[in-house]
Formats: sequence, C-alpha cells, structure tokens
Amino acid sequence: METIHLPRIGTAQAWRDAARGLMLREVPPEDALWRFADESQTDLFACPVRAANRAAPARAPAGRTPPSVPKGFLDLANTVVWHADPERFARLYDFLCRLQDNPRLISDRGDADLARLRTMEKNVRRCAHKMKAFVRFRDVGDAAGRRRFAAWFEPTHHTVEPTAPFFTRRFGDMDWIIATPDVTARFEDGRLTLEDGQPKPDLPEDGAEELWGTYFRNIFNPARLKVQAMCSEMPRKYWKNMPEARHIPDLIAHAGERALEMQLAAPTLPPQRAEKILKQARMPQGCTMPQTQSGLTRELRGCARCPLHRDATQAVPGEGPADARLMIVGEQPGDHEDLAGRPFVGPAGQLFDRVAGEAGLDRQAVYVTNAVKHFKFRRQGKRRLHQPPNRTEIEHCKWWLEAEIALVKPKLILSMGATALQSLTGRREGLLKRRGRVEDTRHGRVFVTVHPSYLLRLPTAALREAETVKFRDDLAQVTEMIAA
Ligand code: URA
Repeated sequence: METIHLPRIGTAQAWRDAARGLMLREVPPEDALWRFADESQTDLFACPVRAANRAAPARAPAGRTPPSVPKGFLDLANTVVWHADPERFARLYDFLCRLQDNPRLISDRGDADLARLRTMEKNVRRCAHKMKAFVRFRDVGDAAGRRRFAAWFEPTHHTVEPTAPFFTRRFGDMDWIIATPDVTARFEDGRLTLEDGQPKPDLPEDGAEELWGTYFRNIFNPARLKVQAMCSEMPRKYWKNMPEARHIPDLIAHAGERALEMQLAAPTLPPQRAEKILKQARMPQGCTMPQTQSGLTRELRGCARCPLHRDATQAVPGEGPADARLMIVGEQPGDHEDLAGRPFVGPAGQLFDRVAGEAGLDRQAVYVTNAVKHFKFRRQGKRRLHQPPNRTEIEHCKWWLEAEIALVKPKLILSMGATALQSLTGRREGLLKRRGRVEDTRHGRVFVTVHPSYLLRLPTAALREAETVKFRDDLAQVTEMIAA
C-alpha cells in the first residue's frame, strides 16, 4: 500500500503529479491511499476505491511509458479535486487507470464511475458559482492608500483556490482577504497568496451593509416570490454570512400583503369617457390671476403651460374651504385622481385620510392640492405608470399653486414629499433631514413631511409601521399648530 500525501494548497497540481508517478510505478488503484498531508489520523473514507464499488475493475496501469490522458479527463479532474468527498482522489485515479485500456470511456454516458465524477464536477462548479455570488466583503479600513476588505465564507467544497483568480480580476484595485475554515485567500498589492484556513474572524459592521439591505428590499418583488426557487438559487446555508439575508424572512412573511397592495395601486387605462371629459375640460388660455376658486378651477382646466396637459385626462385643482387654515400640498394627481378630477382619492389619498383621522386632522377642514396639476405617466401595455415631474414642469405649475395660496391664504402649509418641497421652498434636497421642521418661505410657514406614497413603497411591514407613526406624529403636530 502506498500513501500519497497531498497539500491543501495546490492540490490539483499535486494530485496530477502524484497520479502520473503512481502510473509510472505501476501502482494499481487498490494500493494507493490518498490523504491530505495535514491529516494525522487515518481517514477511513480516504481508502482506495474498492473493486466492488466500481463499474468495472481497473487493471494495474500500463507500465513505464507516460500515461495517456484524454483532455476531457484533465478538465474533469481539475474540477473534481476540489470536491469535499474524501474519496475523490481515489476515484479519479481509479478512473484514470481504466482510461488507459479504454480511452473512449471518457464519453461513455452509461459508465457509473464517470457519472459519479460528473455529478461531483457539477457540485463543485455550482459551489464556485455560489461563492462568486455570495461572498460579502466588509470594509476594514484603508492602508497605504489602498482600500481593504475582508470576507468570511463557508463553501461546501474546496472552492477558494479555483475561484481566487476571479476575485483578483474583479477586485484588483483593492486589498482583500477571503477567509474560510479550509483555506484563506489574501490579495495585497496586486499579489495573491493562499494560506491555511482559520476560525471565523470578528469582522466590523460595514456602513454599506444598510444600503445594500435597502437595495435588496427594494428589488424584491413580492408578486414574483417563489420560496423554493429562491432557496435553491440562494441556499439557506449561505444566509448567515450575507447581511441582506436577514431581511428575507420578513419579506417572505409579508409578500402576499405587499403584492395585494401593489395590485390595488396599479394604474389602469383611462376609460373612453376620459376623452370626453378632456374635450369639455379644455378652456382657452387667458392667464389673468383668478379671483375665486371656481374661476381658478375654470382657468386651470384649460392649462397648456407645459406638455403634461397633452396626455393627462384633465387638470386636477385643489379642493377644500376657501378660508382653510391649513393647505396640504402633494406631488401631482395619480391615475385615480386623473380620472376622478379630484386630489388624493387613490391609494395614497386613502392612506392619508386614515392617518390624518388618527392624528385628529379633519380633511374636510383643510385645502388639499398638488404642486403639479396634471398626471405625468409612462404607458406600459394597458397601464399608466407614474413618473415624477421634473423641475421645469414643477416651475410651470407653480403659477397655479401660488394662485391657490393667494386665494386661500392658509396659516400653515403642509408640504408632502420632494416635489411639493421643491415648489414651495425652491430646494428638494435633504427631505428626510428637514422633515418635521417649519420653514419660513415667501408663501408663509411651510411644515415639511414625507409623501404618503413613500409609506406605501416601503418594503417591510416593520418599516411601514415605524414610518407611519412618524407621519402620524407630523400630522398631529400640524393639527395642533393650526388650532393654536
Ligand atoms: N399623490 C399626490 O401627490 N397627489 C394626489 O392627488 C394623489 C397622489
């Protein structure tokens, strides 16, 4: 019996050299015991492949002439050596010996030994693919002007060495370490080294993880959820080392509810009567500052100040008492508002009504309007998908908003979302930081908050709940301010 000790690093080359040597010395597969050099105890599984396990018994190799190896076998062996099965080296050597008598065996689909090796090859390839996809680096600070990252990964097979070149190509502009229990790959100053494995290191929390988590939640489509397919694509065993995976249970738990919300909020094509409304609604443009609400509504119906009027069904004016103490400004009419001709009657409006009611704010007592009066959308099949208005459109429509403010003279204006903020304060940046503040503007005092559709778009129930509480607090504060 001959024992072959293989290194854990450079295993593929070492296995090839050892197999060639064994063949030249005519060592039959039964007499070769394969193991890693650092394995101190006898590994029962590392024993030679027993003849009973083989599809056909291998004969001793042909002798001192160099073995002939079909190219297909080299490719197969170069992958299978990274499999975690302790019998892999013996199985490969056994098959290599059999190939000496029958080189065509490499393409024999009916051969059980080859079939097993092919399955092992597939397992390793899949594991390497998962490793490329699921290694998550954490920023561990710069050194000598290079960014440094570290990752901990637990591959099923020994895939660090064969995948390391991929990571050097992909992340060649930084230093990194991929540590695993088996082998650690280190890339520093453009040089790759492989070292022994190590226990899991304590890696620092990474600021980018929160961002990555948010991205993951946002690209998650609850309507397309197939848990089984997802778990096969991203097996659970990898989750513990992937920061975004902590969101998965919650996303799955609330997928049904979210998909229903999306369905309810989905826009529809305008009914045929929209064209009729449109014709009746358009009025010639004679832009004198309207003196009454009905005058403003009449003039607004004919507005063609920007191209948005061409596709929308109608301009949607604000509504509410002409002497309201509070004016609420949203973004623009949505699909439902465009058809109804009234602001905030769709899903965002319904959410607003509910939260406003909880905050003690009576919608009937306030004037509700939008920064932009026509629905801007993009067609996708039969659906009209909301598009945010751009700065020029907001600017053109400001004329109407200012006319409304001049008529109503509210004590306070509640600005909901970035478009309203842009229109009322000239600056949309930092909405979340400015939220809850009162800003003095040339239109008077403006209380800043988010748009209710922001709450509808949040990916988890927990986030929605937390943000709804804040929104309710904002509305309660506004209610108190106008009562004072
Ligand atoms: N979103 C708005 O900003 N306004 C509406 O009227 C409806 C949805």
